[in-house]
Amino acid sequence: MIELLRKSSMFNRRNLIRAALSLPLVHALPASAARSTSARGAAPDRMARFIAAMPKAEYHVHLEGTLEAEMKFVLARRNGLALPYPDVAAMKASYKYHDLPSFLAIYYDGMKVLLREQDFYDLAYAYLAKAASQNILYTEMFFDPQEHLKRGIAMEAVIGGITRARADAEKRLGIQSQLILCFVRDLSADSAMAALDAALPLKQHLVGVGLDSDEKGNPPNKFAAHFAKARAAGLKVTAHCDLNQEDVLEHLRQAIVDLKVDRIDHGGNILQSPELMALARQRNLFFTVCPSFSGRVRGEGQPIDVVRGMLDQGLNLTINSDDPAYMGSEYLNAVLLSAQQRSGLTERELVRIERNAFNAAWISDERRSHFLGRLDDFARKWGVEA
Ligand code: ADE
Ligand code: ZN
Repeated sequence: MIELLRKSSMFNRRNLIRAALSLPLVHALPASAARSTSARGAAPDRMARFIAAMPKAEYHVHLEGTLEAEMKFVLARRNGLALPYPDVAAMKASYKYHDLPSFLAIYYDGMKVLLREQDFYDLAYAYLAKAASQNILYTEMFFDPQEHLKRGIAMEAVIGGITRARADAEKRLGIQSQLILCFVRDLSADSAMAALDAALPLKQHLVGVGLDSDEKGNPPNKFAAHFAKARAAGLKVTAHCDLNQEDVLEHLRQAIVDLKVDRIDHGGNILQSPELMALARQRNLFFTVCPSFSGRVRGEGQPIDVVRGMLDQGLNLTINSDDPAYMGSEYLNAVLLSAQQRSGLTERELVRIERNAFNAAWISDERRSHFLGRLDDFARKWGVEA
């Protein structure tokens, strides 16, 4: 695969991506989601072109959070479901949230159109095609199976559809990916264990388990047994520590110290704890930061910008899109461009962030060197010192 990737020219890759973008369901996506550059409005300047051309990786993206309104209408029609909105614009206008629980209510309601293996295939393929069009070479994607099992959908249909899409996207578009099963932390521990047990026979299609959803009253330690079982099965472990949630520093402590997670999703509040930051540096922990969802933590005086703060503290952050369909259809290039502007990122810092991203991947050393080599070639070509 690595050899194949090296041999395939950009021209061929672009053609393949174009062909993929003309598949019916992907075609149903908004132009902003399918564009390969990220400039908003005016002709792309150097920074937008730099970000668009940079080889990238993404780790914090919820597949169900990439379910665009356009696709919801296509799937609802195909599955004979009625939607409570007359059109895409009305549906998008309903995406109004002010905190994590109000966001999650919209997100869980939206995924009810996903019923069959083909729906999960279409969802995953559409994200992977967009990611490939944005020069994302590699991604590890979250999914929330408990929400689907609850609606009577078999784990085989969920994982089967996503796995088939991953294989097709790699073959046609060159994008490589892996899958992370998330426990929905505000459902019961038993429900999470049932999901894990249903998924373990398919563990060859998973790289890890994660922990998402509403954090209030649902600390990482609630899932200690689940994480231990997943680890024993050879899976990696990560956990959301969403920004500014109740008890977030204790949640970070449990994740890092008690559960010894392999990665942290969000985690910006670590800037409020010198002890935890020292531990994270010592353990070379990676953080999957999503600046679109929330970019600041409360400091002692002024609020601290998470991206700038983590970079300046020498923490290993990566930048990710989280739930782009619910965040103005802003995929990774747009998220990086906004973060570059908001946090004053230099080209060198952007390369450092993507180097972190390839170093954060749960892949072999051989694959990692291949990706890092692509990033080094890019940096050299654009005159950016490593
Ligand atoms: N599920 C989907 N997106 C999420 C987020 N940003 N935080 C927690 N749970 C989520
Ligand atoms: Zn998330």
